Amino acid sequence: MDKTGTIRLEKENFEFPIIEGTEGERALDTRTLRSKTGCITFDEGYGNTGSCLSDITFIDGENGILRHRGYPIEELAANSSFLETAMLAIYGELPHKSCLNAFRQHVRRNASIHTGMHSHFDGFPSSAHPMAILSSMLNSLGAYYPGMSTNNREQDLAHFDETAALLISKVRTIAAMTYRMKMGMPFVYPADMSYTGNFLHMMFSEPYRQYVDDHGAAKALDLFLMLHADHEQNCSTSTVRMVASGGANLFASVSAGVCALWGPSHGGANMAVIQMLEEIHAAGDDGSRFIEAAKKGEAKLMGFGHRVYKNYDPRARILGKSAESVLESVGIKDPLLDIARKLEQAALEDDYFVSRKLYPNVDFYSGIILKAIGIPVEMFTVMFAIGRMPGWIANWKEIAENPKSRIHRPRQIYTGKTLREYVPIDKR
Ligand code: ACO
Repeated sequence: MDKTGTIRLEKENFEFPIIEGTEGERALDTRTLRSKTGCITFDEGYGNTGSCLSDITFIDGENGILRHRGYPIEELAANSSFLETAMLAIYGELPHKSCLNAFRQHVRRNASIHTGMHSHFDGFPSSAHPMAILSSMLNSLGAYYPGMSTNNREQDLAHFDETAALLISKVRTIAAMTYRMKMGMPFVYPADMSYTGNFLHMMFSEPYRQYVDDHGAAKALDLFLMLHADHEQNCSTSTVRMVASGGANLFASVSAGVCALWGPSHGGANMAVIQMLEEIHAAGDDGSRFIEAAKKGEAKLMGFGHRVYKNYDPRARILGKSAESVLESVGIKDPLLDIARKLEQAALEDDYFVSRKLYPNVDFYSGIILKAIGIPVEMFTVMFAIGRMPGWIANWKEIAENPKSRIHRPRQIYTGKTLREYVPIDKR
């Protein structure tokens, strides 16, 4: 017999099915709760709400486990590449060599953007935040591919493979062009290079001098992107799914994802962490004031804590370790790494953080690697967005391919004024 759970409301018992995931996570299926009882669930911030069934990514936050399609993140980090992991997230399997090569070619061929879009950059002030530009540009991009952005599910899905490769490719071009525009430098056209090599070329080459990656920057960047590829129902991915649930096309959905990622509680934390570490370095102290401020509830310690992880974020562990080797190969000794390590140690020995199970998250060490590669701080969250693109795409696909998917439309508990009589303007 299928498992059920009982909710007792006042004096009546109501039975609901229990849904069990493949990794044993259980949920009480309350979809009929309101029609049966007149009650809804209240879960502000959705900490206890399963918003979907998904086959893409598994997280066991208590034990610090992250797997994409069943593969542990540690194994992917050691053996895979960003584009291969992107294919895994999107299509569900590790690709055969020929499929991966075809995907790489597809991504390579789609690197440039329509020259009509070049002039869009002129419309932004140089002070514009790169995330604002990225979000606008991704949505505009859909206008150049009307057949792929119809908001007709069947038609958008018919072009899915093309759209996915195109977005993964062009998001990186748009990011590099955004940086060049802000710096007042001419755009650099994509070349026949690896995914990350091409990005670094478009960011840093000059008409008179080709960027040379002589310290493994492309490899380090590939690892960074891969570690950000997907992370189940986080704020930006849930936003993508929410927008997709209304039938919106993939361009519009990922553009909304960029906006959701921007905030400092989510992807924006990678900028905030490096700003904090730089402030500590400039002040020459040990940074304990940031820990004290966090304990007093004045400000969160950036790069620490996570809704799901109550253990070390496995991505932070990998990035923390690789930060050292990246700095070594670049040949610089960044004092921020030592500061970060000491801050981490101090927090992990403090009862406030221990009792709340607050550990470093992915954003704690990622900025040190990006900085070593030469990425400006203002671009950090954009780098996160490039990395997260496959996850957003995979989640959009899951919604679009599900014939039973419903528009996402939570309810609320109204706490405002009850019925009132309209007061004419001269009587207020
Ligand atoms: N510094 C200090 N206290 C914290 C921190 C932190 N970074 N994070 C959580 N807490 C506290 C909360 O205030 C709460 O305290 P209380 O029990 O006394 O009320 C307790 O720890 C539990 O908080 P959670 O419920 O685990 O936090 P929540 O899930 O609401 O928020 C979030 C998660 C937004 C990531 C939070 O930890 C935070 O703001 N961290 C700093 C910003 C950051 O690094 N964001 C990146 C997250 S990873 C990502 O999105 C890529």
